[in-house]
Amino acid sequence: MTSTLLVTGASGHLGQRVIHHLLETLKVAPQRIIANTRKPETLKDLAAKGVTVRAADFEDAASLRSAFAGADRLLLISTDALDRPGRRLEQHQAAIAAAEQAGVAHVVYTSMPLPENSQLLIAPDHAGTEQALTNSVLQGWTVLRNHWYFENLFMSLPSALASGQWHSAAEQGRVAYIARDDLARAAATALASDATGKTTYTLSGAEAFTTEQIAQLVSQATNKPLQVVHVPLAGLIQGMVGVGLPEPLAAVFASFDTNTAAGRVADVTGDFQELTGVAPQRFATWLSANAAALTGQ
Ligand SMILES: NC(=O)c1ccc[n+]([C@@H]2O[C@H](COP(=O)([O-])OP(=O)(O)OC[C@H]3O[C@@H](n4cnc5c(N)ncnc54)[C@H](OP(=O)(O)O)[C@@H]3O)[C@@H](O)[C@H]2O)c1
Repeated sequence: MTSTLLVTGASGHLGQRVIHHLLETLKVAPQRIIANTRKPETLKDLAAKGVTVRAADFEDAASLRSAFAGADRLLLISTDALDRPGRRLEQHQAAIAAAEQAGVAHVVYTSMPLPENSQLLIAPDHAGTEQALTNSVLQGWTVLRNHWYFENLFMSLPSALASGQWHSAAEQGRVAYIARDDLARAAATALASDATGKTTYTLSGAEAFTTEQIAQLVSQATNKPLQVVHVPLAGLIQGMVGVGLPEPLAAVFASFDTNTAAGRVADVTGDFQELTGVAPQRFATWLSANAAALTGQ
């Protein structure tokens, strides 16, 4: 393989691990990799290894054509702009248009499970981006419908463990969590492959858990009591606003639970293993490595 591989958002948590897997797991030569980021000064170590580091910001659409120049295959990592509905979609559309203009053959995109007709308030950005790929003149694309990271549990569990109560509107919905590092490996594999055509993978972990099941496992691993308190959606939003979150953002976070309750993130698939050839990390393994950090130790 001689194709040039470009990773956007290369300084983010996922982006850094994608580059790691390209270099270390898949043994891609650094000279074949372009790392795009808004903060090139943070990627000096990669530049020293021979990776081409270029500034790129999806908000500055005009700059993207030169930022993407020379790339054959491009990983579009979805951005974290959640402050205005639709803003991420505009950013992703600008990136796809620039990829078309720069002559990129294949785009890999980090989406979410079942983005269409979802009650999750961030879902339209993903559904819209998938649509933009379908409508594009790109030769091919790979959509990675990434399930939720184990690491997302750091957003709710430390405070829940401190109080002993985990407020949830997810009802009996299950989540097929997966390690962020596994998703990075999958993205690196899809990017570095010579697959053409148009393919969608739904990347889940090996098991799906209810909130109660997670609470029980976390309680055992941390040796701390943790009770799930089921609340209605409005109560969950109110609770988040009460601890200082702006109401629109609280509504976005709470809609994750609505989506879970509707059974939209429960499907365990074999796609991760099919794509990478290895099994996903199990929750128990991740938990034993992270239990101390979840309790703030
Ligand atoms: N599946 C899940 O559970 C889950 C959880 C959290 C987030 N996500 C999604 O997956 C993405 C990667 O996750 P992560 O853990 O790496 O999040 P993260 O560390 O917060 O990274 C945010 C990413 O967005 C990029 N970005 C932000 N604004 C941008 C812009 N204007 N132009 C280009 N890139 C921009 C950043 O790139 P630079 O800083 O390098 O420019 C970085 O790669 C997130 O952005 C989000 O869309 C998924």
